[in-house]
Amino acid sequence: MKDASSKISTKHLRFDIDGKINLHTGAMLMPNVRRALAIPMMSAHGTEFLEIYHNTRRMLQEIMRTKSTVLITVGTTTLALDWTVASMVEPGEKVLAIVNGHGIFSERTKEMIEVYGGKVVTVRSPTDEPVDPLEVEKALNNNHDIQTVICPHVESSYGTSNPIEQIGKLARDHEALFIVDAAPTIGGTDVRVDDWGIDVCVSSSFKGLGAPMGTPIISVSQKAWDKIEKRQSPIRSYHNLQRWRQYFVDAEGKSIDGDPAPSMAVNNVCALHEAVRSIIEDGIDETFLLHNRAARATRLGIRGMGLEVFPNCTMTCTDCKHKGRYCSDALTVVKYPTGVEEEKFRKTLNEKYDIIVSGGVGELKGKVFRIGHMGKPQVLPQTIFAAISSIENSMIEMGAKIKTGEGIRKTQEVLQQ
Ligand SMILES: Cc1ncc(COP(=O)(O)O)c(C=O)c1O
Repeated sequence: MKDASSKISTKHLRFDIDGKINLHTGAMLMPNVRRALAIPMMSAHGTEFLEIYHNTRRMLQEIMRTKSTVLITVGTTTLALDWTVASMVEPGEKVLAIVNGHGIFSERTKEMIEVYGGKVVTVRSPTDEPVDPLEVEKALNNNHDIQTVICPHVESSYGTSNPIEQIGKLARDHEALFIVDAAPTIGGTDVRVDDWGIDVCVSSSFKGLGAPMGTPIISVSQKAWDKIEKRQSPIRSYHNLQRWRQYFVDAEGKSIDGDPAPSMAVNNVCALHEAVRSIIEDGIDETFLLHNRAARATRLGIRGMGLEVFPNCTMTCTDCKHKGRYCSDALTVVKYPTGVEEEKFRKTLNEKYDIIVSGGVGELKGKVFRIGHMGKPQVLPQTIFAAISSIENSMIEMGAKIKTGEGIRKTQEVLQQ
């Protein structure tokens, strides 16, 4: 086993990312959010912090359009999904897992169900398409004992957006609970948790919400709480939705008979508070529109210069019969044209044009790059113009056949709307 700590380097302590346009699949932090991270650390159990914590939960309910309990947890989004599956799935229970292609994030949740003893029924979409609701309906009709449906809103390996509203209706008609992995979308896309019948919705803090990593969000409906209450077997994870609720909702983050709530990541929550406050101040609908426009401008700009995007959609967005529910507003996934090497391209884009993008993951590693549209700095028109023109220049330098100027023209058309 290779241990990274055997080679200690202080290179990154220079924070040489400062000043770059970071369009990785995580937010660039707004200055007010960064300042909140640097405030003197407060007590995790004092009234000052707890007021911030509960205020943030209330603002998140507004953004997620829900009356469900919103928990702000700690750790990775994967961990929040793990607590969710541990709490919601009982050994032997049949769960419908929706997987896009072999997307690593939907495969991960499927594996979690197996870890906690669930029996998985899989509905798999083709690699570059959203899941077909008819396939979901068929699986539910063939398996009347399915109690839970789990689906990614966006499979970030491909940038594909699934029709959550339709799947939510099918789950409700079938009297199954509906869990959605909305890691990249909350905060930048209109996810209507209550209207769409989502019982448990899990989101990252560091993507659409524009806050740092470390404080994933989980909304839990009354129906989901009822199911947890009625479990036949104990939850096989010390930390879980029920315990977190007891500490942070029922006891309001204070101690339970002298047993203190776990110490929250105070500064991260303060930064999250700033990020969601900014969304509400800018306007929730306006924020979603800004993300949508940026994503459309990027997709059309990329296609305009002659490159292909995932998912494989040939429409122009304005005549989209999927009403924009096919591609995602959270990220754009771009295929490398023949002859362009990932490492050289991303190095040129970074070192010459100060633009950082994410690489492909899973089966698409080395075949695509991914541009984030997560949080305000990433979706401002000036960011999109800089990205499109720099991608075009870098591609030309790599020898790709590019329709010069066409990308920027298409981008401009959308951004002027
Ligand atoms: C859809 C989806 N689910 C889960 C995750 C996992 O998030 P984390 O890396 O915070 O555990 C990601 C991360 O990109 C994601 O896009």
